[in-house]
Parts: sequence; structure tokens; C-alpha cells
Amino acid sequence: MSNNLLVTILLSVLVYREATAATNRTFPDYFKFGIATASYQVEGAWNEDGKGENIWDHLCHTNPTFVDNGDNGDIACDSYHKYKEDVALLKDLGVDYYRFSLSWSRIIPLGLAGSPVNQAGIDYYKSLIQELGDNGIEPMVTIFHWDLPETLQEFGGFPNPELEEHFAYYARVVFENLGDSVTYWTTFNEPLQTCHQGYSTGTMAPGYKSSGLAEYKCAHTLIKAHAKAYHIYDEEFRPQQQGYVGIVADTTWFEPASDSDADQEAAERALQFNYGWYINAVVNGNYPAVMIERIDERSKQQGFETSRLPKFTEEEIEYIKGTHDYLAINAYTTVYAQAKEETDPTVVSYESDLNVDTFIDESWEQSASSWLRVVPWGLRNLLNWLSKTYNHPEIFVTENGVSDLGGLDDDRRINFYQEYLSNVLEAILDDGVNVTRYTAWSLMDNFEWARGYTEKFGMYSVNFDNPGRPRTPKASASYYAQVIASRCLVDTCE
Ligand SMILES: *[C@@H]1O[C@H](CO)[C@@H](O)[C@H](O)[C@H]1NC(C)=O
Ligand SMILES: *[C@@H]1O[C@H](CO)[C@@H](O)[C@H](O)[C@H]1NC(C)=O
Repeated sequence: MSNNLLVTILLSVLVYREATAATNRTFPDYFKFGIATASYQVEGAWNEDGKGENIWDHLCHTNPTFVDNGDNGDIACDSYHKYKEDVALLKDLGVDYYRFSLSWSRIIPLGLAGSPVNQAGIDYYKSLIQELGDNGIEPMVTIFHWDLPETLQEFGGFPNPELEEHFAYYARVVFENLGDSVTYWTTFNEPLQTCHQGYSTGTMAPGYKSSGLAEYKCAHTLIKAHAKAYHIYDEEFRPQQQGYVGIVADTTWFEPASDSDADQEAAERALQFNYGWYINAVVNGNYPAVMIERIDERSKQQGFETSRLPKFTEEEIEYIKGTHDYLAINAYTTVYAQAKEETDPTVVSYESDLNVDTFIDESWEQSASSWLRVVPWGLRNLLNWLSKTYNHPEIFVTENGVSDLGGLDDDRRINFYQEYLSNVLEAILDDGVNVTRYTAWSLMDNFEWARGYTEKFGMYSVNFDNPGRPRTPKASASYYAQVIASRCLVDTCE
């Protein structure tokens, strides 16, 4: 641990003592703490050592007004060159594992099934995993975190069913080359954002606006690609490698606006359209009944011959069902959900397929991200909903964190972690929810997609004006290090 970190630990003790009451019970021995990043957000080296172009490279270079300040991930945190330093930060934090993602176009520059593999890309991840291992930190590897090879987008991206084969090829390459030293795999990170923001709201690369149409095709291919990768692992690699494969989905927590049946149904429907869209498929083999029924009915009213929501065949349902070894959730925030009058039946959109009104309580603390209000109890309610809805599975919190506009004395971030973790612990100890991992987002300030470098989620600050991209611990890094070391959220625990 660095001296810097020791000093800030002492400071943070003073800060968090003043925070609102958090539980003084301790995390169980088996519980693991981690922290996360993603390839495009931190690596940089966008065109080095044979890496191909991906959709974020392409978007940032060809449409610079898409991202705040015209920023891009060309250099980002330069983790491609500074990974040893990153691992040293992880070691200072004392995390059990590091959740990071692989850049598809660094490993397979064109992305296409059967196209050449870039050995330098494989070697980079081998070196990172080796460095983690040498420092006693477990890798938790996300195969895809939004940086699709540009060539695959030119073939239509996720709405093209061929993507399943391209992803299967990629997954086999990474299991083959890295699987001996990886136990936890995630196929896709937040498919909701890939399909909804990428192909419906157009707020993420590739930036298409095809609400209620292309996004359903995107999800359909993505779910089949996930299932195929799972079966490849199961049949070809699990016998030797003995690892686990899952998919990481995200949702806002939708709190019913009232006890009325209509509001309860609205909240449940919103959860199913966000989280269930993907997870009901991998758990039960198909989309949630409420999505199938509503989209079928609305498509019919609109004069479509078949539903805008594609159908899985019976064989596909059997193939997709059960393709997950753990349940994962990326969770940040909460809204209230309220029943709504049925809107114009002719409107083709995801929002009118869902048909739920949402609102927030203005007193909830606003972070630097417009979509992120601080609502710690929402996480506890969400964990309870997951446990109940999916039959008490083992649950990993794979992302949780908060943004600000910068500064090393991030006491609001400390309060955030203290209160959200307190709710995780209450879900475990008081509600019997089987949460076994918690992953903070993020290790360091990084490229926050369309918000560029303006919104900061890191426990380490990065100076993006300095070519050396120096990292500096914030107060929250010391707080998290102390939580991990003591398994306790306050200064004295039971
Ligand atoms: C949590 O899930 C793991 C993995 O399935 C299992 O081994 C453990 O017994 C479960 N714990 C509880 C408290 O249910
Ligand atoms: C923990 O909290 C409980 C009730 O909130 C309190 O009675 C107890 O004294 C606390 N324990 C410590 C070690 O602070």
C-alpha cells in the first residue's frame, strides 16, 4: 500500500463517520470484492500492434460531435501500456478479482468467423492475466463490452443473424487461448444497452434509431450468440478448464408508484422489458410472457404479418434454456413506475410496447450523470426481486458506482458505496438473498461513452492532459480498501 493511500485512509475515516447510518455487521467470509473496467474505456492503443477498428473508434473518428468535447478512446487511460501499474492499484485496493473486458478487434481485427487472429492481442491479455495472477488477483473476463469490430457493423451488426457465428468463433478463440487461467467468464455486458441504445435510441455506437424493430432483432441474435458460446464452453472447454459462464444484464430498479395493482404491474412489466428480456431467455429459454403477448398484439394491430419480436423455435428454446452458471446484475439507480393509458396503437416503438410512466423523487441526490440518482434502498429491493423471480440463484453484483465531475476528496462517492453496500449486506443477512460478489465501477476515471471524459466514476483519478496518464488515489480508494480489509462498512463492526 502506498503512503498516499495510507494518508487518505486516515482522512476517509473522518469523512465516513459522518455519513448516514450503515450497518455495522460484517460481510461473510465467502463474499468477494472486485472492481471493473472495460476495454474501450481504458485501453487506448486503438491502432497498435494489429488491432482492428471497432464501432466506437469509427463513431468517434467520423462523428466527433457525438461525444462531449469530441473526445475519443484513442489513448484513454493507456492501460494497454500501463497494465502493470493498473494491477498495482488493484493490489493496493486489495480486491479479490478484477473484472475487465477483451477488445474483439484487438484479438480478431476483422471480427469475421474464420478471419485471422492477432497474436499480439492475445499476448496482451495473457500478460495482463499473468500479472493479475502474480499478484493474487482473480481475472473475471467479459468477452464483449460494446466495442464491436467495425467490419461486423458493415455486415449489419447484431440485427444480422450471422453475428452468432462470428461471436462463436471469437468465443472459441478466447476460451482456447486464455481459458487455462480464467475461471469466470461473461459473454456480454449489458445487452440492453447494446440493443436499446445502439439500435433504438441511437445514443451509443453504432447510433441507429430503429425503436421496436432492429433492437428486437439485435437481442434475438445476441441471446443466441450467448447460448452458443455457453455450449461451446460447456462441451469443449469446461471439462479441462472447470470455469463458469454467464451474461451480465442491467436494469434500473422500478419501484411501484403505489400499492395499486396497475402500478405494481407497470413496475413488473418494466423490469421484464429491461432485465427479463435477456435473463428470462437464458434462465427459461424464452422472452418474458408479457413481452411476447404485448408485442404480438400490438404488431397485429399495426398490420404486421408476424410479431416484431422474433420467435425462438422449440429447439432454440431448449438450447438457450439454462445457459448461465450465475446471475449477474449491473445496478445503479431507481425510478418510480406508474401505470399509463394505452397510447396510440399505431406507434411502433419499444416505449409504447412497454407503456409505463416513470418519474423520480427530486430529493434523491443527483450524480454527475443525468440518469443516475443515488437511491441505495433501490438496490436492496432489486436484489430481492432477482432472488424471488429467478428462484434464489447465486447473484453477482457486477457493476455499481457513481459519477462526479472530479476531485480527490470524493466523500459523496464514499457515502454512495457505504450506503449501497449496506443495502447489499442487509439483502444477504436479513432477506436471505445469495449475493456472493460485489464489483465497484470503476477502477479509474475513463472514457464514459457519449459523455467522454466529463463524468468520472473512478476510485483513481487519471490526468488525461498528461501523456503519461498518471493515476492518483481518491479518498474512495482508501475507503474501499478499508472495507475489503475489515469486511466492515463503518469504523467499528460487531
Ligand atoms: C449460494 O450459492 C452458492 C452457489 O450455488 C451455494 O454454494 C451456496 O450454498 C449458496 N448460499 C446460500 C446462503 O444459499
Ligand atoms: C452496532 O449497532 C448496534 C445497533 O445499531 C449497536 O447496538 C452496537 O453497539 C453496534 N456495535 C458496535 C461495535 O459499534
